[in-house]
Amino acid sequence: MTEEALVRMALKARENAYAPYSRFSVGAALLCGGGAVYTGCNIESASYPCGLCAERTALGKAVSEGQRDFVMLAVAGSSRELCTPCGMCRQLLYEFAPALIVLCANDAGDYERCTLGDLLPRGFGGASML
Ligand code: THU
Repeated sequence: MTEEALVRMALKARENAYAPYSRFSVGAALLCGGGAVYTGCNIESASYPCGLCAERTALGKAVSEGQRDFVMLAVAGSSRELCTPCGMCRQLLYEFAPALIVLCANDAGDYERCTLGDLLPRGFGGASML
């Protein structure tokens, strides 16, 4: 799976976004260690805080199917700005994959590669409680 292919999958997943309130569609594609890819889109609600980001939709699909090992995530928004995961998504991704590679893409498929450690330095995880 190339980075470009993962970004394309995120852009495709964006087509299913349910975003009538923000009108900002987002897609995500999460690559697992074994090669499987789980996609997700944002799902909003009239009760705004209930909304789900694309990244957490993809992660929830993957974990609920038994996946725990994640290598790379692509996230694509609907503007020329590169889309970066929100704080809540960074934290939940950190739970499973502190070393995750994150491809932050725009609506044209341009992207920048970073790591979850770049996005969430000194993140809080289970080891912090030992
Ligand atoms: N959103 C995502 O799905 N992922 C991100 O990385 C940034 C924001 C969604 C949440 C909300 O449905 C919309 O984009 C506007 O914030």
